[in-house]
Amino acid sequence: MQIPSSIWSLLIGIVLTLVSLWYGQNHGLLPAAATDEAVLVDGLFNTMMTVSTGLFLLVEGLLIVAAFRFRQRPGDNTDAAPVFGNVPLEILWTALPAIVVLGISIYSFEVYNSIGGFSPHDMHDAPISQATVRMPGAAIAATLSDSPVNESPSANLNQQKSDEARLDPATASVRNDDQIPQKRNSPGTGIVSPTIGPSPDREGKPPDLVVNTTGMQYAWIFTYPDTGVVSSELHVPVGREVLVNLSANDVIHAFWVPEFRLKQDAIPGQQSEIRFTPRLAGEYPMICAELCGPYHGAMKTKVVVETMEAFGSWMKEQQSYASKEALNQAVAVKPADLSPEEFLAPYTKDMGIQSEMLEQIHASHHYPVLP
Ligand code: CUA
Repeated sequence: MQIPSSIWSLLIGIVLTLVSLWYGQNHGLLPAAATDEAVLVDGLFNTMMTVSTGLFLLVEGLLIVAAFRFRQRPGDNTDAAPVFGNVPLEILWTALPAIVVLGISIYSFEVYNSIGGFSPHDMHDAPISQATVRMPGAAIAATLSDSPVNESPSANLNQQKSDEARLDPATASVRNDDQIPQKRNSPGTGIVSPTIGPSPDREGKPPDLVVNTTGMQYAWIFTYPDTGVVSSELHVPVGREVLVNLSANDVIHAFWVPEFRLKQDAIPGQQSEIRFTPRLAGEYPMICAELCGPYHGAMKTKVVVETMEAFGSWMKEQQSYASKEALNQAVAVKPADLSPEEFLAPYTKDMGIQSEMLEQIHASHHYPVLP
């Protein structure tokens, strides 16, 4: 019995669809999805994977079948039949990809909107002031901006929080503290800075936790303005919306946690931010994703997503550690209060180094001179 070719096509179509659907969900290419945002992004990725698996199998399958079935037989030296166009086929192969591409773009806009990519939030607390103009990286930021500088010193929430945090000895004890831009004035040049804001249903609501994050060659520093705790690891509680304010001391760095499926640049002289809600406890790598110098590859740290209780006790531990530090510092010299020349004076005299020399070194780069 001869099976009609339409039945074959139908069967092959069904098998291709099933295989594509299965592979789209089971490709195993992505690490754990540790935030609510990651789940949405993965939905989009899996859809694209399904479509491209189907297309790949269809196109490559037809290619292999055609190459085998229409191969040259021995003794056959005739030309192939000339074929000039096929209007229905051309309409089909134009219309189908157009529909697929349109569908994926609508879907991706929807995902981007849901994770807060179109949040209008970022304009209101990014003013520029004299202090911003003088902060590290302001010259770079100025070249990135076409808009006129807004001189009016309006309210800056991040600045207030940072000022409060600064009063805490824990914050003051961080090396390079005076160079962390967000503590002088919140960066911002009056242009739209890169933002992953709150999801639309949380628009206007404050985040559950704020972490000020500064990138510098070659480390990340996390400041918790509510408690003044400063850490080199990012700890966040599960199920709470976290706002990370990003700034950079020297060059562009980028906040990237693969398990969060989120990436955001940290730009000198300008504040960017990123919001997310962790959903899966665990330890994840946080990797700088912008080539920032010879040790860029080593600019990694750890993100710890933990239960609210574990997060609370970590915070307590950090606070008690910080207050012990502060006690020690009340006795010892506080390097932050001295200029590099003053601080180095006892050593430079022995080494025969002139203070002008130090001045030059200090002006030419921002990373610490001291080990
Ligand atoms: Cu910082 Cu790469």
